[in-house]
Amino acid sequence: MADQNTHVVVPGTFDPVTYGHLDVIARACRLFGKVTVAVAASKGKNGTGPAFNLEERCILLERALREVNVTGVTVKPFSGLLMDFCAEEGAVAVVKGLRAMTDFEYELQQADLNWRLGPGVESVFVMSNPEYGYVSSSIVRELASLKSDVSFMVPKCVEVALRAHYGA
Ligand code: PNS
Repeated sequence: MADQNTHVVVPGTFDPVTYGHLDVIARACRLFGKVTVAVAASKGKNGTGPAFNLEERCILLERALREVNVTGVTVKPFSGLLMDFCAEEGAVAVVKGLRAMTDFEYELQQADLNWRLGPGVESVFVMSNPEYGYVSSSIVRELASLKSDVSFMVPKCVEVALRAHYGA
């Protein structure tokens, strides 16, 4: 039963959004009354810049959410600190997915830092659906760049965008 008064943020780079992300967003919707997906401007991993620009990532998220029938979610870009975004939005928690121990160390560091930057904003974690435990945006990008099938990791609209991006 969703807590109608609780506004939470599901943050990420979403380069691109995967079924793993969509699962976490859907579960946040089941638990909380208001969910905003915060898409980070982000310089991308390894300083290479994201494959999709901020606007493209937001559009893909909106399309993907429609494709998997997740409704009532707001998608917003942000470029500063996540805790500042939460304060502006009046959100009381961030919700993230946890896949493996490697995720845990990284996420714990971020949660500790965010607690320092925005005390009072909770970090809530949901264990990733085992079906998507191996799915990550970087794996999707790597497979797509090698012209491999990614349809089991991303919705159709993302698959099409990846094909256009990598020229498959
Ligand atoms: O999908 P990702 O790349 O794991 O998401 C990471 C993200 C965007 C949530 C994180 O990098 C973030 O919060 N960036 C905004 C800048 C910030 O607040 N940094 C301090 C906390 S780590």
